Amino acid sequence: MKDDAVYRLLDEVDYEFARHGPPEWYPDVPRIPAARYTDQDFFDLEQQAFRKCWVTVGTVHELPEVGSYKVVDRWNGAAVFVVRGEDQQIRAFWNACAHRGGPVVESRHGACGVAERFRCAIHSWTYSLDGELAGVPGRRDFHENLDRCASALRSVRCEVWRGFIFVNLDLQAPSLVDWLGPIAEEATWFDGLRVAGTDSFVLNCNWKLAIEANIEVYHVTTVHPDTVAQTLDYRGSAEELYQGGHSRMIVPSKGYDSEQVRKEAKQDPLDALMGNTNVSYLMFPNHLTPGGGRRDRGYSLTLQSFWPISPNQTLSEWSIMAPDWGDGPVPEHFAKSVKGFSQIMHEDTEYLETVQKAIESGATDGMLTSYHERRVYHHEASIDRLIGIENVPEHLRIPQILPIADANENAVGST
Ligand code: FES
Ligand SMILES: [Fe+2]
Repeated sequence: MKDDAVYRLLDEVDYEFARHGPPEWYPDVPRIPAARYTDQDFFDLEQQAFRKCWVTVGTVHELPEVGSYKVVDRWNGAAVFVVRGEDQQIRAFWNACAHRGGPVVESRHGACGVAERFRCAIHSWTYSLDGELAGVPGRRDFHENLDRCASALRSVRCEVWRGFIFVNLDLQAPSLVDWLGPIAEEATWFDGLRVAGTDSFVLNCNWKLAIEANIEVYHVTTVHPDTVAQTLDYRGSAEELYQGGHSRMIVPSKGYDSEQVRKEAKQDPLDALMGNTNVSYLMFPNHLTPGGGRRDRGYSLTLQSFWPISPNQTLSEWSIMAPDWGDGPVPEHFAKSVKGFSQIMHEDTEYLETVQKAIESGATDGMLTSYHERRVYHHEASIDRLIGIENVPEHLRIPQILPIADANENAVGST
């Protein structure tokens, strides 16, 4: 992140602490219709749209050697695997044999030897690490044109950004860097992180309820009195909305002292920001990245992902992403933070099933969001743009009235 961007963010935090109401430019937005969290048809539209999104499925550390692979099945049944090829490139394929759809990898993680090849579980067709068809037992029973009809596994778009592996089921999708917009340049501290611990659970609520509970900090004094509220001060939180559905939130630490932070910034602007605030992106549509730390110990973050299962079920998973610690065990500090974050996630999600039931019972007309909660409104409005506004039933549409930062204004390159 560039120095002038850091100073702009420190100004925004000061502004947020000092304001007495929403700024004049902020529109009085309507409620988010309740049925967006319950309607099966709308959920199906979202699911289709999800297949056009770049989503992260891990880091390069998880595929350390040629042939290392990982299966990802987070699209309601569609199973894809990512694999490191002989040329070190990471590729993604559908886990579906070109013959009759059998699985070519069965364990969730593993390593396939170059000579051994991927072997379909049903009739043993084999594939090289770059997905090319390598062997067909009983070849004589197929016509001459077999190679033209079935020559490879179907590939899926796969790109790596700052060590994070992303895939996209849409072959026509824009590049990952274009998709991420300003985040791609700005989030320099994502470089080189690896998973120090991970956990997950299934929530009985809509995936958007789960995300939206985590993209505002209005709730922290009530929901996290003994944890987050002890370390962060929500009154100074500064939010930014980006094109493409992404957004960012900076939350100052408890006892934030603007003068002191600016003194620190003279030495090292990014370190002053990361050491005195929590910086979190929503990488649209379903990843959050709260993080911080100090340069001498390395910056870290928690990658939270929310995967829709049905209108009222969501897989919530999170990984503590720490600077590479080499060959030894996970440093104690990070090992502990896995447990600590699980506690916070329980607090964050404890009431979501109740909220879901309230919506399903018709007990609420929908969600009211304040200026501070505008990332929630932005998330919903961005889903409509992804689906195509004309495809969203009129009674469920979100008016597109929020001002959104221009991507060029926010293109804050790395230093
Ligand atoms: S389905 Fe894979 S070899 Fe037949
Ligand atoms: Fe929270």
